[in-house]
Order: sequence, then C-alpha cells, then structure tokens
Amino acid sequence: MNKFSRIGFILAAAGSAVGLGNIWRFPYITGEYGGGAFIIVYLLAILFIGLTVFLAEAVIGQNGQSDVSTSFISLSKSKNENWKFAGFMVAAGLIILSFYSVVLGWILDYVITSFSSLPTEASVAGANFEKLISDDIGSLLVYHTLIAGTVIFIVLKGIKEGIEKINLILMPLLGLILFGLLIYALSLDSFSQAVSFMFTPDFSKIDSHALLAALGQAFFTLSLGVGTILTYSASLPKEANFVKSSVMVAIVDTSIALIAGLIIFTFLFTAGAESAAGPGLVFISLPVIFSGWGVLGHVIAISFFVALVFAGITSAVSMIEPALRFFIERFNISRRSATIICGGTFYVLGIVALLSMSKSFGAELTFFGKNAFDIMDFMSSSLMMPIAAIMICIFLGYFVDKKVLEEKFTTHTSQTIFNIWYFLIRYLVPVAIIVLLLNKLGAI
Ligand code: PFF
Repeated sequence: MNKFSRIGFILAAAGSAVGLGNIWRFPYITGEYGGGAFIIVYLLAILFIGLTVFLAEAVIGQNGQSDVSTSFISLSKSKNENWKFAGFMVAAGLIILSFYSVVLGWILDYVITSFSSLPTEASVAGANFEKLISDDIGSLLVYHTLIAGTVIFIVLKGIKEGIEKINLILMPLLGLILFGLLIYALSLDSFSQAVSFMFTPDFSKIDSHALLAALGQAFFTLSLGVGTILTYSASLPKEANFVKSSVMVAIVDTSIALIAGLIIFTFLFTAGAESAAGPGLVFISLPVIFSGWGVLGHVIAISFFVALVFAGITSAVSMIEPALRFFIERFNISRRSATIICGGTFYVLGIVALLSMSKSFGAELTFFGKNAFDIMDFMSSSLMMPIAAIMICIFLGYFVDKKVLEEKFTTHTSQTIFNIWYFLIRYLVPVAIIVLLLNKLGAI
C-alpha cells in the first residue's frame, strides 16, 4: 500500500508546514509588527487555533483514508453525498502552488547569482529584484518550469517513493543548513539584540491588524484549509497516533520559524539594517548584508537561499497532493493522468501569475486594480483557506457524531484534551476565522 511510515508522515507534514511561510514571511511580518508581543500572539494562535484545525483535518483524513470529499462523506452523521462539495478546497492548493512556484523561481535566481555577485547597496539590490520580477520573463519562465518539473516528477512517484523520500532527504538537509546558520548567528554580537527583539514583548504594538496577521500566518504556516493535512493523514496508517504526530509537526514548524527569525534578525542588526522592511527583507536587505562578508558572505547567501528552495519544494509537493488524490479517487483515473491535469493547471496558472508582474504584460493581466498574481494570492489565502477552515469546524462540531470523535481522540489522548479541542472547534475557532475572513473582505 502506498502509505507513509509514522516518521515519514511527520517529516512530510512538517515539510509541508515548513516553507517560505517560515523563513520568508514569518520574519518580515514579525519585523513589521515590532517583534516580541507579536510572537506571543502568534504562538497562542498556533496553539489554540492552528493546532485545533490541524487535528481536525488529521482526524477526518485518518478516518476516511481517502480524498477530501470521500473522507467528509464517510465521517458525516448523515453520509450525505453533498459533503462532496468540501472537495472545493483542493483547488486552493493548486492556486497557491501556481504563484508559490514563481516565488521559488525568484529564489532559484538568488541561489545562482549568489555564486558570482551580491549587491553592495540597498538601492542596487532593490533595482535588481525589481528587474528580475518585472523584466526578466525568459529566466522566470525557465525557473518556473524547473520548479514545476521537479514537483511533478516527485509526485508522479507517489506517497512513499516520491513524497516521503524527498522529505527524508531534504528535511534533514534543511535542518543542517539552518543549524549551521544559527551557530554562525550565535557567534555574532547582535544575537542578543535579536533575542531581545523577538522575546521582549511590547504590547503597545499589538492592534487588531497584528492579531489577524498572526492568525493568518498560523493558518498558512500549518498548511491548513487546503486539504493537505487531511490528505496526508489519509495515508497515515489507521492505528498511528495522529494527536502526537500533529503536536510534533506544530512544534517543528514553530521552532523553525523562530530559528529563522533569530538568524535573520541577527544578520539585520549586525548591519544596522531595518527590521520592518516588509517582503523585501529577504530579497533586498539580506543580500546587501551578505555582500559585506566577503567569501563567507557568498557561502552564507548560497546556503540560505538553498535552504529556502528545499523548504519550498517540500511544501510545494504537498499543495498538489490533495487535488491528485481527489481526481484519482473520485474520477477513478491513474496517478499519471491526475498529475498531468493538475500539474498542467498550476503550470499554466503560474505563467499567468509570472507575466502579470511583468512590465510587458502586467496591464493586460490586471483586473479590478490587482494583478493576476495578487488575485491568486487573495483568492486562495484570504478567501478559500478561511472558508474551508470554517467548514471543517462546522462539519466536525455539528455534523459528525461526537461519540465517534471522542473515541478517536481518547484512544490517543486524555478526555480533557478532547473536551478542550471539541469546545474550540465548535465555538472559538469558527468565530475567530469568520472575523479573519470578514477582515480580509474589508467588511470589518
Ligand atoms: N506551510 C507552507 C509555508 O509555510 O510556506 C505553505 C503551504 C503549504 C500552504 C501547503 C498551504 C499548503 F497546502
């Protein structure tokens, strides 16, 4: 059977969770919201909301041992076929993958250019980055094709030989690179400054925007609302302890985000650079810092961007898997055919996303004031993921037999943990996500 081993599942789910969200996005939003207090809010969001939804996806998947739609139907009290519409969430993964592959392409460019040159000034670094994403269509197409090809190659091989194997290789390598970078950061004077920036809370910096950013980040980083965790858990042997595995994944994911933050802030403070530089933090601020460190700077730059590529690839394969499983099970087609359909879709959408950021085609691919790249990001991360998450909560809280869930949880954990989880999934989490969704829609 094409199933994960327990460690394979933990590594693959951690591989999905640990991605650009941890190493690129987490540090820059932490920087924007002022550090320590934001991190406390983020940790609470992971613990009470992210982990709750993670366990929810895991229990649906492990029980169903099938695709998103079939797993929903089989766990529902009524066995109502309409639960098949829950399968819409697998489309979100394909949309995210489209632009995620483009961003991974930018990083590939950084790996390559880091061998030869690094910009010595922020203005040059900014101009280089701008030129890459808006002017250099040829290179971007090559990079996107390389990334898409790699993802397709891996998933074609299946769960065990493809996904589990790549995670068994890349995750330890990623850990090793980050460990090396952390040791280097520890040797720098600014390390203590980074620690105090990240762990000394100043709650005056926390407003409703920060709360919602923390919640959104908790969702994205744990790969929730796309059916990824559900689909991976469907390949987890039925007797495996899904509670323990889920907690481990959340711990690994959070630790890596914090370590990435410590490394990046140490580097920034060493150079006296700005911590609130936004999305350009990694693409613009860091290369300038590395350029001041001579040969060592090149080595660090290459290691850092390679780590990002590794983290991104293991996330990318997890975004397509829910759609593959959906097509395989619901339409009874081969993995190969499903991969051609889903791979082709995200590849083409990625090209649209890529062109929409360019000078030459940007105008044609801009609708209602947003380019196609931003529209895909908005549709998936701001609309589909929260809607799917709300649906998951309402499904488990109100349309599944409580006794069935209780039995699944208490086989592996205490009654108290189950009671807390059940309360959160019925009341607190759906309300929190509805608030997040309304905010994204500009309604509040
Ligand atoms: N968790 C990934 C990250 O932090 O980069 C992003 C992600 C992966 C989102 C898989 C959604 C998904 F299904």
